[in-house]
Amino acid sequence: MITLQPISEDNFRDVLKLRASEELVAPNFYSLAEAYCSLIDAVNKGVPQCDLLFAIVNDKTVVGFAMMTFEDGKDVNSDSEIYWMSRFMIDENHQAKGYGKAALALLIDHIKTKPHDCDVKYFYTAVVPTNHIATKTYASLGFEKTGQVWGSEDVMRLIL
Ligand SMILES: CC(C)(COP(=O)(O)OP(=O)(O)OC[C@H]1O[C@@H](n2cnc3c(N)ncnc32)[C@H](O)[C@@H]1OP(=O)(O)O)[C@@H](O)C(=O)NCCC(=O)NCCS
Repeated sequence: MITLQPISEDNFRDVLKLRASEELVAPNFYSLAEAYCSLIDAVNKGVPQCDLLFAIVNDKTVVGFAMMTFEDGKDVNSDSEIYWMSRFMIDENHQAKGYGKAALALLIDHIKTKPHDCDVKYFYTAVVPTNHIATKTYASLGFEKTGQVWGSEDVMRLIL
């Protein structure tokens, strides 16, 4: 069964061992370093930490990683606070087994619990246009393309 575990001392080494195409998603060492710097920034500025990082676990095996950020939404011209999923991956040895879709459903359920004590209307992500599997995975849970482009990626949005 797929579960989400917050990133911790206990699981980050397993997350670092996961692999997926670097043309589609940044390596996990980069994402963890980025999140650490963001955390240090937040601490130094005395502002709340906005990232949510999870190991995706099948029974007891770490099979994937997800990183989401709580944002004001101005970057995507939203009138509301949003969650933006910047990283989502399932290790190449565990893809196409239903784990990605199951994990994404749990991530959606989690942000509906208002982890930042805020009513959030939208959940955004962006996908390389040729990444048909990721696009299909997002669409299967209600994400739709907005027509916006972020870098070279198509923006997709779920109305919560
Ligand atoms: C995209 C990704 C997260 C999907 O997770 P996954 O566990 O492999 O996908 P699932 O098995 O849950 O399948 C999700 C959907 O994709 C389809 N799918 C999965 N692998 C497929 C394949 N090789 N060919 C065709 N369809 C495929 C499934 O049929 C399913 O669609 P459905 O709900 O209509 O049946 C994963 O493949 C991955 O990490 N890819 C590399 C990194 C990446 O692209 N990350 C996303 C960046 S935006």
